[in-house]
Amino acid sequence: MPELSSDSRFTDRFELRPFQKRDAEPLYEAVTVSIPELSQFLPWASRAYGRIDSTRFTRDSIRAFREQRAFDFAIRHRDDSRRHIGNVSIWFVSRGFRSGEVGYWVRSDESRTGIATEVAARMVQVGFEELRMHRIILRIAVGNQPSERVAEKLGFTREGILREELEVHGKWLDHTAYSLLEHEYAAKKEAISALVGSTLSDLPRQDSPIDG
Ligand SMILES: CC(C)(COP(=O)(O)OP(=O)(O)OC[C@H]1O[C@@H](n2cnc3c(N)ncnc32)[C@H](O)[C@@H]1OP(=O)(O)O)[C@@H](O)C(=O)NCCC(=O)NCCS
Repeated sequence: MPELSSDSRFTDRFELRPFQKRDAEPLYEAVTVSIPELSQFLPWASRAYGRIDSTRFTRDSIRAFREQRAFDFAIRHRDDSRRHIGNVSIWFVSRGFRSGEVGYWVRSDESRTGIATEVAARMVQVGFEELRMHRIILRIAVGNQPSERVAEKLGFTREGILREELEVHGKWLDHTAYSLLEHEYAAKKEAISALVGSTLSDLPRQDSPIDG
């Protein structure tokens, strides 16, 4: 299986880079301003979320990336590397069968500006082109219309309902399974690339290299 490099990936507006230790604080800030929206669908998001959680997430994420188990990326505006915009991740469900899953969230005060669509499209490129996946899935809680729109805009096919797939704050939520296959990606490559926009990576960096 190809090894995924820890380089940043770029979209038109964003830098997606593997987590660093110093991301814990901006991550905490982004989560805490977004709790009402995140807590509807994400089991880990609640009023009790604290710095200990963002520190633990950052540490686990750095380790998982290094061990090539899962690949979390911090979303940052290309011209503001400090403010945390959200997370986008990709991981293998089955390495043997080359199947993977993409997940994302976006801070509430920047939602509805096309961020999830743009960064999820970039993760789909990473999955098919760098990790050589055959199939990528999205699992979206029934009723999460913004996320369903992301799946549709990326050209995923709705497969069916996964009953009571996740327990979120005491409530079992049905999820819709969406998938995109390798040959479908090949046919939709240009449309997906248009969602990502320019991927130029030659902007001057204000950051030091990964310190995790
Ligand atoms: C779901 C989520 C990632 C969408 O992020 P986003 O950056 O706002 O998404 P986009 O701007 O790319 O918008 C995607 C579509 O959803 C629509 N949308 C976004 N927020 C919406 C809202 N609150 N109500 C209705 N539609 C909304 C957009 O208009 C767009 O559809 P369109 O192209 O037909 O206009 C974000 O709302 C979020 O983080 N929610 C909480 C966590 C979560 O649900 N994560 C996903 C788990 S599968």
